[in-house]
Amino acid sequence: MAKRVQMVVAVARNGVIGIEDRLPWQLRADLMRFKRLTMGHCLFMGRKTFESIGKPLPGRETVVLTRQAARYRGADAVPGVRYVESIEEGLEGLAPEKILFIVGGAEIYRQFFHCVSELHLTRVLADVSGDTKLDPLPLESFELVELESFSADLHNQWPSRYERWVRVVDSNVFSTSFGNIVCS
Ligand SMILES: NC(=O)c1ccc[n+]([C@@H]2O[C@H](COP(=O)([O-])OP(=O)(O)OC[C@H]3O[C@@H](n4cnc5c(N)ncnc54)[C@H](OP(=O)(O)O)[C@@H]3O)[C@@H](O)[C@H]2O)c1
Repeated sequence: MAKRVQMVVAVARNGVIGIEDRLPWQLRADLMRFKRLTMGHCLFMGRKTFESIGKPLPGRETVVLTRQAARYRGADAVPGVRYVESIEEGLEGLAPEKILFIVGGAEIYRQFFHCVSELHLTRVLADVSGDTKLDPLPLESFELVELESFSADLHNQWPSRYERWVRVVDSNVFSTSFGNIVCS
């Protein structure tokens, strides 16, 4: 079974990605790109990130990773959300034409970066206060295929740079612990 896995993340210059279970900035252009990119596909996120969003995002399937799936599938279930205990379980229920977008937070990025065929990275060009950090991503196996710079303005608190990175592999399919991944 071949599946596509991509990652979307925004990181400040000092590695910060979150504060008090929310995003530490307002970047409208980045949110709009996130929506365009993920619409019609599947969002895979940690339970804390889901709780910070608070509801499933329209037009996308929401899969939440938790070690307490039984609890969330029961009395605390949120309609429209699929709770899973592994990424394998998340991929199992996914329609073949859909991309699984790994969308955070830090715990999820760290564990599943090795599965990713494509990375959508927003570099927030500032040192930002926060309590959740990500180490620099190892990009040796990736190639930069797209780059776009954005200035700060009324709706975008900091200047930023969007980078799209594609994993460079010999074939367009490579194996992981949970099956084959197709590089798109
Ligand atoms: N800048 C960005 O692009 C971006 C994107 C997304 C989120 N964020 C920020 O990141 C912060 C949240 O990140 P976080 O690292 O604290 O939390 P998180 O990754 O969103 O969620 C962590 C939770 O995921 C579940 N989990 C993690 N690994 C698991 C595994 N192997 N198996 C089963 N369940 C697993 C656990 O849930 P249970 O405790 O229920 O078991 C764990 O407590 C927030 O500030 C958020 O705003 C930033």
